[in-house]
Amino acid sequence: MTDDGGAGGDVDDTDADTETVVRRDRFAGGPARGFMSSLAADERIFAADLAVDRAHTVMLAEQGIVADDEAAEILSGLDAVESAGHGALPDGEDVHEAIESAVVDRVGDVGGKMHTARSRNDEVAACIRYRYRADLLDAAEATLALREALLDTAADYADTVMPGFTHRQYAQPVTVGHFLSSYAGAVARDTARLLAAFDRTNESPLGGAAFGGTTFDIDRERTADLLGFDGVVENSTDAASARDFLVEGTAALANLTATLSGLAADLIEHAKDGYFVPSDDYASTSSIMPQKVNPDTLELARAVAGDVSGDLTGLLTTLKGLPRAYNRDLQRATPHAWDAVDDATEATEVVAGAVATGDWDPEACAADAGAGFSTATGVADALASAGIPFRTAHEVVAEAAATAPDDADPETLAANLDTAAQEVLGESLYAYVSREDLSTALDPAGSVAARDSRGGPAPDAVADSLARMTETVDDHEAELAVRRDALAAAETDLSEAVDEYA
Ligand code: ARG
Repeated sequence: MTDDGGAGGDVDDTDADTETVVRRDRFAGGPARGFMSSLAADERIFAADLAVDRAHTVMLAEQGIVADDEAAEILSGLDAVESAGHGALPDGEDVHEAIESAVVDRVGDVGGKMHTARSRNDEVAACIRYRYRADLLDAAEATLALREALLDTAADYADTVMPGFTHRQYAQPVTVGHFLSSYAGAVARDTARLLAAFDRTNESPLGGAAFGGTTFDIDRERTADLLGFDGVVENSTDAASARDFLVEGTAALANLTATLSGLAADLIEHAKDGYFVPSDDYASTSSIMPQKVNPDTLELARAVAGDVSGDLTGLLTTLKGLPRAYNRDLQRATPHAWDAVDDATEATEVVAGAVATGDWDPEACAADAGAGFSTATGVADALASAGIPFRTAHEVVAEAAATAPDDADPETLAANLDTAAQEVLGESLYAYVSREDLSTALDPAGSVAARDSRGGPAPDAVADSLARMTETVDDHEAELAVRRDALAAAETDLSEAVDEYA
């Protein structure tokens, strides 16, 4: 093979498995060859690279940088490479080089014109952004499905009174609907973060070339349009080097999986207490203890937060201190982002399934709803409503609580409260609160119904919250659809532009 710049189709047979258009007869191998190659991992961006190659080739022809018939040959070569698939690519340092080699193999030297006015540095950045943005939309879609599962189940159990906890201690009665919609609120922010990460990912680095721009009269806006990017990354060095969009997406996913892990931990605990009954599809059993129904899917989902946080750390640690411009370290940054988005999306789908198919046992929930004198705060509120300073009311109720057994019934608690009132206030409790109001405050359902402030657990308040939260789901669904439609329209534009050369 000559080294005069003509990367020809006549590859010497003896070197056929080591030579590529980029390496020619040097840098062809050695013991570190496998270490250097990203070809296997690049399967993920095979389709992205074909799209990027096509858009770039169309732009080169439109700008008169390559002739139309040359573009046509390159584009037909790309079609053939696509049909053969990633597995048929020649060995190479990466998918970009391997596709270029395969095109040259098929259409001859003219295939070497495809790489005019670009570098693998802007090319790989474009491929990663092209693929990652689709992955982010899939992740966002999974969060929408999870929110729907949470809100639908919350509506089904809006009146189901259950214990609420702080510090893992019985704290105040709430409802299953209020508990589940608390997570719907958190996941709504995850959706918003993923959509924002999409927007910052969706800018085209193509045309940045190696990092220093190009002498050719390229049209960066045109390739951005053809690839469905919303604009271009302005500075050519920034375009080729930036990976902060991967950090942003992975951070959003780390946040999401941290929330998922909390939800999973709660559901595991609630399954142990018999409140939540996971469906068999999302449970497993023991190989020795025949009676066991274990919430394995939720435990695995809880663990994903560790993986994704590790990916975020891996990504940040790789990027930290990297000087401008392209450094090969970046090749090892990318897989962290793929792993994180795959794991987080799958975990989100699984948790959504576990929530949607699981049952809640109203009796088990009710049995513990008043445990540990969890209605105490409501009693203090009732005394404070009668004009006693809240701090004094707190003291009366604390005194009663100190002598009440954990499973005290409302009558026992009422007697204790009256004794405490005599001690602290020097008067009967009933000078401040009617027997009827006290009994409502001591009833877990009454306690829940009284807390009807916005966002509170009273069934009416939860119904209002659910309506608002459902609207936000609809808004985010529309935002997702706008982005998906824009990408689909760009795909059509690109294939029509390519067809001009058929
Ligand atoms: N496989 C490389 C990556 O993932 C592609 C860019 C290679 N560029 C280079 N100058 N060696 O980053």
